Amino acid sequence: MAKLKVLFATSEAAPLIKTGGLGDVSGALPAALRAIGVDVRVLLPGYRQVIAQLAQYKTLAFFDNLPGFPSARLLSGVMANGVPLFVLDCPGLYARAGGPYQDAKGHDWADNPLRFGLLSKIAAVLGSSASPLGWHPDLVHCNDWQTGLAPAYLRFAQGAAPSVFTIHNMAFQGNFAPETVQELRLPPSCFGIDGVEFYGHLSFLKAGLFYADHITTVSPNYAKEIRQPELGFGMQGLLVKRSGDLTGILNGIDTDEWNPATDIHLVKKFSAARMAGKSANKELLQVRLGLSLAPDVPLLGVVSRFTHQKGLDLLLEIAPRLIGLPVQLAILGGGEAQMQQSALGLSQRHPGKVGVNIGFSEELAHQIEAGADMFIMPSRFEPCGLNQLYSQCYGTLPVVHATGGLVDSVVDCTAETLKDGTASGFVFKGMTAENLFAAIRRAVGFYHDQRKWKALRRNCMAKDFSWKSSAEAYRAVYLKVLGR
Ligand code: ADP
Ligand code: GLC
Repeated sequence: MAKLKVLFATSEAAPLIKTGGLGDVSGALPAALRAIGVDVRVLLPGYRQVIAQLAQYKTLAFFDNLPGFPSARLLSGVMANGVPLFVLDCPGLYARAGGPYQDAKGHDWADNPLRFGLLSKIAAVLGSSASPLGWHPDLVHCNDWQTGLAPAYLRFAQGAAPSVFTIHNMAFQGNFAPETVQELRLPPSCFGIDGVEFYGHLSFLKAGLFYADHITTVSPNYAKEIRQPELGFGMQGLLVKRSGDLTGILNGIDTDEWNPATDIHLVKKFSAARMAGKSANKELLQVRLGLSLAPDVPLLGVVSRFTHQKGLDLLLEIAPRLIGLPVQLAILGGGEAQMQQSALGLSQRHPGKVGVNIGFSEELAHQIEAGADMFIMPSRFEPCGLNQLYSQCYGTLPVVHATGGLVDSVVDCTAETLKDGTASGFVFKGMTAENLFAAIRRAVGFYHDQRKWKALRRNCMAKDFSWKSSAEAYRAVYLKVLGR
């Protein structure tokens, strides 16, 4: 049988460009699919950072007369892991200082509809008979709202491949003024309840959910949650209707990047069989974040975007009490200004006990995973979450709220799960500061019983979070959509 060909359209892919988990997934899943025989190629906007990292490229095509869009060209490249790359070069839209979605001050780029409208449009062109390339995908796999219009454009194109749309986060919807429909040259008829309209706006996310042939999301539990009003963000009705076409597939992790036995960012490597190296990483982290050198005080790590989603406000609220247990806190992240200020204020009031680094640092993120004893994720909602997976691989026990993919990937420590060897963290129900405090205190209790703690670490480190089985699940979805 001919090889399955898939165009994977995304707005970020690690290590070229990453703001969060979508970057990790787009950096690793295509390689895992290629490893099982699917010919996947990634389409990515030519942000300044991306073009700068392309060692060599060829111009594959020019798009000079797409009505409503500026001229653009398609460059070819290769990811470091060998995955072929199509880079959409349009300097007026993508080559600027700042992030992929926002300027340096944290304001969304005003022309985001056009920026991601063009990305979606090109994904659809490459997936239709209008494609200038010799390589024609059997299917277009879109990710999050930034590529949500591709399934809509495909629906109205000639000779179009079917599409799969993956939801990484329902909270980001790409909702814009109704005039955008005309500006992006969508047929006026699609601006209705059976189409791209969402409360009087054009919604990129809804377009993906409505027009894609199949929808996936990044954990089985989140696939259930988004059909309920609490976490459906207004799209629950549509998702209930499309239940038969909705699959939850848990994210995997890139074991070349996230493996304590080979991690280049660690001061000392370690593995389940050789745990001694972990304490050197704890010491390094304490030094790096100005914490006192206390090998026997549990060190709690956080690496996160600072947004309401992640629930760090609860952690900051109970931090003064936590320190009394005692514990130390190592926090890396950035985002909402108020949260940044309260984290920094906390570290100033508790020198040696709370270390805070505001910013984005791949290196420090790895060092926190390796050096901390526990990893704290009190997310209000979490489609999948990757840090609780990394934590388990690094023998760092996750403490998580019972939501989304956290439920699918962390087994709460109880008498029973300790006995059967499945316990891998601490899960709390009910999103309150008190419940988070109780879960951390429970974890600290186990930490001081070193025999049980070592058993918990072993359980975590024995788990397989590699992409292989999830890549197979995606391939099964592709085959189903194609009726093969
Ligand atoms: P989300 O995508 O919602 O932010 P995930 O847990 O899926 O959450 O993925 C977050 C990814 O981004 C992880 O790889 C995490 O280590 C990384 N990350 C988040 N904030 C930072 C930061 N400040 N510095 C470095 N890496 C970060
Ligand atoms: C989103 C979600 C996160 C998920 C990631 C990758 O950013 O917030 O839970 O792990 O996408 O799928």
